[in-house]
Amino acid sequence: MAEMKQISPNAPAGAKLLNWVDNRFPLSALYKEHLSEYYAPKNFNFWYFFGSLALLVLVIQIVTGIFLVMHYKPDAALAFGSVEYIMRDVPWGWLVRYMHSTGASAFFVVVYLHMFRGLIYGSYRKPRELVWIFGCAIFLCLMAEAFMGYLLPWGQMSYWGAQVIVNLFAAIPFVGPDLALLIRGDYVVGDATLNRFFSFHVIAVPLVLLGLVAAHIIALHEVGSNNPDGIDIKAPDAPKDAAGHPLDGIPFHPYYSVHDIMGVSVFLMVFTAIIFFAPEFGGYFLEYNNFIPADPLKTPAHIAPVWYFTPYYSMLRAITSEMMYVLIACVVFAAFFGVVKSKLAGFIKLGALLASAAVIAMMLAIDAKFWGVVVMGGAVVILFFLPWLDNCAVRSIRYRPDWHKYLYAIFVVNFVVLAYLGVQPPSPIGERVSQVGTLFYFGFFLLMPWWSRLGQTKQVPARVTFAAH
Ligand code: HEM
Repeated sequence: MAEMKQISPNAPAGAKLLNWVDNRFPLSALYKEHLSEYYAPKNFNFWYFFGSLALLVLVIQIVTGIFLVMHYKPDAALAFGSVEYIMRDVPWGWLVRYMHSTGASAFFVVVYLHMFRGLIYGSYRKPRELVWIFGCAIFLCLMAEAFMGYLLPWGQMSYWGAQVIVNLFAAIPFVGPDLALLIRGDYVVGDATLNRFFSFHVIAVPLVLLGLVAAHIIALHEVGSNNPDGIDIKAPDAPKDAAGHPLDGIPFHPYYSVHDIMGVSVFLMVFTAIIFFAPEFGGYFLEYNNFIPADPLKTPAHIAPVWYFTPYYSMLRAITSEMMYVLIACVVFAAFFGVVKSKLAGFIKLGALLASAAVIAMMLAIDAKFWGVVVMGGAVVILFFLPWLDNCAVRSIRYRPDWHKYLYAIFVVNFVVLAYLGVQPPSPIGERVSQVGTLFYFGFFLLMPWWSRLGQTKQVPARVTFAAH
């Protein structure tokens, strides 16, 4: 047993209590390590608000979720009515429900901005690979959480959206149909599906999500935060004070805890304005078709997922049988390039050639729908590999060649265009544009090992750039 820390008998009661706790649980040590003595770079800008905002939205979702579960009925015959009951009869039920539905969209807005910050400042690079990987796992969980939650109101969009997405799994060769059956618990989306999605949405996924968020922050605090300059303030040769604290760092509490209050205030103003004045947000946050109870006999004319899924949905729809020839051409080109240009050993080249031939054979043999699913999943999976795709000599966009900035700007525009096309009904022009957009999205990541090395980087300063205001 560790030695007990003694405290003066004349100490105030609060200090005595804290000492009693500290001798049994490292409360003060945790507080110091993660708040009062966690030194964060002093040059954080507004992009650094989104991590704490994601935490805030997580708390909002859990608290409002708890209150919704008190009145919601996970039963295909009662679910839709129970949501209407929450909206009309439960005291403040409308507010709790709108906070939860707006919170879902807010979560994705905040997390997309949070991820983009990581992308532009190279926060995923060594030594923060695990911070990024936990983040990507969080993103996957968040998508699963949102997808399953969307079934619960049992409206037309809930029902048909789930039907379309679960049917995608059926496109997987051999195991697909059984897998889809396992997910649904029935031959069509039904009461069994609603019950299992409810169970996953309220307990299984949130538990994993909370664990991953804890791991995300522990990993971040192990290596220290990056910053807009991409400079390591805790590197062995970085300037430190007599106590060994980085000169370019400030304690998280009180400096950033107070700073984050500003981000929280602005966020809450926008969040409450949406809740009170535009909770459906023009059909983007709550789709109009979802105010009609689910009807397994009536398929809506146009089924579209909620906006945060639509970039991936566009990529899914982009993979037509015609597009498969373009993808095959990409594989042929990559195999040829790999063999002719690379300096790999002969037997590896031969292996790569054989693997490419096998992939092409599968691409010809298996339906395009399956490859659409692969592309949609791949669009998220590829993010996990980002730390090993980027070969630029510097971390932050600030010191990269100027054209990198334009490339990132095009990446964002492309992502938004894909999102827009995903909410639109299919059209020949939309299909072409989303095909080009899909190629660009994957090209951006898969060719990154090559393009990130090109161009002249700028001199990274020795200390972070910071102007007090
Ligand atoms: C529930 C979702 C999430 C929560 C609550 C969360 C929370 C946080 C917090 C509190 C920080 C420190 C403050 C900050 O740097 O903004 C942080 C940093 C970070 N997060 Fe997340 N995060 C989430 C999702 C993600 C996702 C989806 C990714 C990427 C795929 C990600 C990648 C990162 C990275 C790379 C950092 C370090 C940034 C730096 O030091 O420059 N996070 N996160």
